[in-house]
Amino acid sequence: MERDRSSSYVAAALLLVCISLASAPRGTEANIFGGKLYQKAQQDCILFMGINPLRLDQYKKFVYPPDRDTMCLIRCIGISLDFWDDILGFDVDLAEQEFSPLVDATFKKYLAGNITLKLELLDPLDNCARAYYAFRTFRAQIRQFIGTGTTTMAPSVNFQPLTAVQILDIIVDCAREVNLPPSFLTSLTKGIITDCPEVQCFIRCAAVRTGLYTDKDGALLANLHRQLDPPGEDLASFSLRQGMCLQRNQQPPTADCCTRAFKQFFTCLRPDFEQFFIRNRETVMQHFLYKTDQPAEGQAAPMVQNNVLDPFGGNMGMILSSY
Ligand SMILES: *[C@@H]1O[C@H](CO)[C@@H](O)[C@H](O)[C@H]1NC(C)=O
Repeated sequence: MERDRSSSYVAAALLLVCISLASAPRGTEANIFGGKLYQKAQQDCILFMGINPLRLDQYKKFVYPPDRDTMCLIRCIGISLDFWDDILGFDVDLAEQEFSPLVDATFKKYLAGNITLKLELLDPLDNCARAYYAFRTFRAQIRQFIGTGTTTMAPSVNFQPLTAVQILDIIVDCAREVNLPPSFLTSLTKGIITDCPEVQCFIRCAAVRTGLYTDKDGALLANLHRQLDPPGEDLASFSLRQGMCLQRNQQPPTADCCTRAFKQFFTCLRPDFEQFFIRNRETVMQHFLYKTDQPAEGQAAPMVQNNVLDPFGGNMGMILSSY
């Protein structure tokens, strides 16, 4: 009897491990404030509250203007995800837990203090406004901690955004330098990104050389924001979104530089790079990589794939393909 029970516990535990291993590489569940759970709660609340679904795009980018619908949306999300309670207020313990170890002990103290200060200025009966401004204070505090906890927010004074063509040139150089063999190039042109040491180092090379990444500081978010210029998204919102993704995909300290660049930086930034190249398709298509159907051997990596997103007639996989 006892044994039966304990073996079913073991089976359940193993199942849990398998489930979390299966979802871990995509890193979408780890943080309630940025993962799928959050987006799901947001979508449900929009429906539930009858908010115009056209606003979803804005909300998906964490852009929350202080209008009535948005305030009540935040309250709804907060109640669904248990970070807000009309009586107990904002759950600072949960916030700390979700962002640990990215934030230290002072985080919770400052957060609680700053939320109290903010709520004192509001109508105590207006729960939408209270939830909304508590959440905003929380976001500001998180940004500050993510910003000061790492140097990723510090813009390099010398950083000049590159053109899409300049980035392609760097990609070509890097592919040569890490000696990507023709077989890799062939798969890259089909949009298959093999997770192997050469490709990982190729990504690192391009990320570092574009001035968007360093081994020491990781993703340089301010530079990335200037480079990628995500439409309708300010630096704060971009940093919060990417900061949470980078945190979810944090690599163990033993990971080497190439693995880190690939599994953390590239995993998080790839969709934004895809959009950048799509927006710059006119000039991208002038690049020699896209003027030849088959690259000559030794000529590096055309990054290509056939998918719905591909305006390049199947010639842009590595950068343009989506997961
Ligand atoms: C609010 O947060 C800042 C740091 O972000 C901190 O310096 C300040 O002391 C906090 N205020 C309170 C009342 O805790």
